[in-house]
Amino acid sequence: MNEYYDVKLKQDRLELLREKPNFIFMEKDISDKESVMDIFQEFKPQIVIHLAAQAGVRYSIEHPDIYIQSNIIGFFNLLEACRYHPVNHLLYASSSSVYGANKKVPFEETDAVDNPVSLYAATKKSNELMAFTYSHLYRIPSTGLRFFTVYGPMGRPDMAYFGFTDRYFKEEPVYIYNNGDFEHDLYRDFTYIDDIVEGIAKLIHTPPEGASPSKVYNIGNNRPERLMEFIKSLEEALSKSLNRQVVFKKIFEPIKAGDVPVTYASIDLLQEAIGFKPCTPIKEGLQKFTDWYVDYYNMT
Ligand SMILES: NC(=O)c1ccc[n+]([C@@H]2O[C@H](COP(=O)([O-])OP(=O)(O)OC[C@H]3O[C@@H](n4cnc5c(N)ncnc54)[C@H](O)[C@@H]3O)[C@@H](O)[C@H]2O)c1
Repeated sequence: MNEYYDVKLKQDRLELLREKPNFIFMEKDISDKESVMDIFQEFKPQIVIHLAAQAGVRYSIEHPDIYIQSNIIGFFNLLEACRYHPVNHLLYASSSSVYGANKKVPFEETDAVDNPVSLYAATKKSNELMAFTYSHLYRIPSTGLRFFTVYGPMGRPDMAYFGFTDRYFKEEPVYIYNNGDFEHDLYRDFTYIDDIVEGIAKLIHTPPEGASPSKVYNIGNNRPERLMEFIKSLEEALSKSLNRQVVFKKIFEPIKAGDVPVTYASIDLLQEAIGFKPCTPIKEGLQKFTDWYVDYYNMT
């Protein structure tokens, strides 16, 4: 519930979750080891799905401390809790950003990822290393998931698709960091939120085995979109939601420090493991986002 972005949106998500049977919410900081240990002591979880982190690539340039606090110390505390209260499976969020500026596409889990270009990416890669060590030393089955640009209703307002939509309604231009060079546009592998949820749900029952039971999977759409095509689809989806034509005012700027030119997931390993691959088409996912946005913020 930190204030990295609009807390009201977080509270509204929480209200939806509170309707679910057996849902318990505790407002705790994972960088506080005692709190994490107490929760494990009290509930003795068999499955842990760890998604809490300080997200965002650009924010890590200006605010490095919080990334170390939540993503390194917080993650370490989770591992320690799993060590002293053994679990059947720990699943945790890594990120496509670990691939840095790798040129070879699609990105495969076996590719070298030793050159992260943001501190955020470095924390996620560190999580994978730490998880491996704990799996090896204490037999904690762990699965890291490298998410590729996740989007959808109630998503993160700091992400481009959400910010562009905000800016349209504020009658402000959108900034596009691709140098205005459409020949060499940025490519992003966008993944609809429901596909992420389904992937995680299926993986829960497939804990890694062996002497060091630790695995990492990409979870992306395996169909990168040109940034400009993506923006066009967003304009079209918003036009449909509002029943009038939407065109963003666009300003083109150079690529930002820490951003990567292409993300493109190979999902062969994921498919082999659970027989599932993200498949929601971008137009369908964006339509769900804009329909939700217009309704939630009461836009006309
Ligand atoms: N959304 C994406 O495209 C994407 C891509 C790659 C990886 N990820 C990873 O997926 C996970 C979920 O991301 P999200 O997009 O839902 O982000 P999010 O910011 O909406 O969710 C993360 C939550 O963690 C909480 N948190 C942060 N520090 C905490 C702390 N010290 N103690 C307790 N809670 C804390 C935040 O308050 C936030 O609500 C994160 O680990 C993120 O790094 C997301």
